[in-house]
Amino acid sequence: MDHFTKITPEEYQKSPFQTIGKEWLLITAKKDGKVNTMTASWGGLGILWGRPVAYIFIRPQRYTKEFVDASSHFSLSVLGEEHRKALNYFGTVSGRDEDKIAKSGLKLCYQEDVPCFQDANTVFLCRKLYAQPLKPECFTDAADDAKWYPEKDYHTMYIAEIEGIYMK
Ligand SMILES: Cc1cc2nc3c(=O)[nH]c(=O)nc-3n(C[C@H](O)[C@H](O)[C@H](O)COP(=O)(O)O)c2cc1C
Repeated sequence: MDHFTKITPEEYQKSPFQTIGKEWLLITAKKDGKVNTMTASWGGLGILWGRPVAYIFIRPQRYTKEFVDASSHFSLSVLGEEHRKALNYFGTVSGRDEDKIAKSGLKLCYQEDVPCFQDANTVFLCRKLYAQPLKPECFTDAADDAKWYPEKDYHTMYIAEIEGIYMK
């Protein structure tokens, strides 16, 4: 990882509503020496169990889920507007069908053996703490269950400790 500086969570001043909701994240993990990545625009940053954490939500059919499940760590990379085409590509094509990272032209790099993107402006290095599939009986507003899960493909929620935030 070249040209990144590690900052503390308190030094991170950007709005998670903007970063996650508008700029989007690339969730990246390694399994058996292979790396896959996907776009995500749902998630959160906050504090839990006395630690800075990230929350992400992955549907069961995503190839990336296999990589996140197999690994103790994953990264969240934030890319600038100039990479919108790649973000759309990573969010519509599956790594089961194409070697997405090779085709994208983006440059993979590693922080403590966790894959992430040199092209990012921000990388969150995350260590998994908790994973649980959302359950229909747990919705307190049934409208969201009906709206988002007609196929019953409930996201798994991952809570991960943010071990490092790296910014350019
Ligand atoms: C803007 C955007 C946001 C997305 N957010 C999520 C998300 O938060 N969780 C999820 O499971 N899929 C999300 N997706 C869908 C995956 O990125 C998409 O299905 C991707 O092709 C999965 O790739 P994979 O099979 O290689 O893992 C999003 C897609 C886009 C375009």
